[in-house]
Amino acid sequence: MIKFTNVFKAFPKGGLALKDVSFHVAKGEFAFLTGHSGAGKSTVMKLIYADERPTSGEVRVSGYNVNEMRPRDVPMLRRKLGIVFQDFRLLEDRTAEENVAFTLEVTSARSSTIAARVMRVLTQVGLAAKAQAYPRELSGGEQQRVAIARALVNEPTVLLADEPTGNLDERATRGVFQLLRDINASGTAVVMATHDLDLVRQAPYRVIELQEGALVYDSAVDEAGTHDQATSGGGGGGGGGGGGAGGGAS
Ligand SMILES: Nc1ncnc2c1ncn2[C@@H]1O[C@H](COP(=O)(O)OP(=O)(O)O)[C@@H](O)[C@H]1O
Ligand SMILES: [Mg+2]
Repeated sequence: MIKFTNVFKAFPKGGLALKDVSFHVAKGEFAFLTGHSGAGKSTVMKLIYADERPTSGEVRVSGYNVNEMRPRDVPMLRRKLGIVFQDFRLLEDRTAEENVAFTLEVTSARSSTIAARVMRVLTQVGLAAKAQAYPRELSGGEQQRVAIARALVNEPTVLLADEPTGNLDERATRGVFQLLRDINASGTAVVMATHDLDLVRQAPYRVIELQEGALVYDSAVDEAGTHDQATSGGGGGGGGGGGGAGGGAS
């Protein structure tokens, strides 16, 4: 469903952000994208939602070829994706409910449909009672839940989360991570970029690790056949190919 084949990405004023990256994420999968700050995680995310195009190689997402995509086709791709960022990106002058509804208004759904769908996703993220609250009246964890509700309202096949817990304390981090796991359990694929290896170790999910733009570890390839064993003790995943990521903001 997401397929990178020999992808290189060079930025005009930067070096090579991605060097020959190939991986495949299947329908319904939960995949961590790990690596230090600057490793290329956000660049992979931007290629998936067609905010950037590969310099060479091929990016395919949900039947679309991102290389050849015309700007006017990008919204169609994004409707299949839910996207969540570290800094929430909520509209400050709109309530939780309005932030979620905004995404549907631009797709011109009927207002009764909008209201029902908005309440359904706010309930799903545990925030039905705060539907009328403005972002400044919500905690960081609650704001991220609103952002996740907004990402879910179009029923995406993939939820992309770029450092979704990067601005949250430990307790809110656990809550948001559990929510992403629940969303995945109900059938939505999740690609989560994070440098937080504690989170990565908590779950037996796919791990793809980048280092300076190169893919250095992929549990689906490097642990094939031994994945359960490798992760059941809580110490598996993520460490291959050179020590794994430490702290550091992204
Ligand atoms: N728009 C851009 N222009 C130039 N360089 C960029 C741009 N975006 C990212 N980079 C560079 O690409 C590399 C990877 O960045 P990024 O994908 O944001 O890493 P991560 O998300 O893992 O921290 C970094 O060296 C960064 O400076
Ligand atoms: Mg990043």
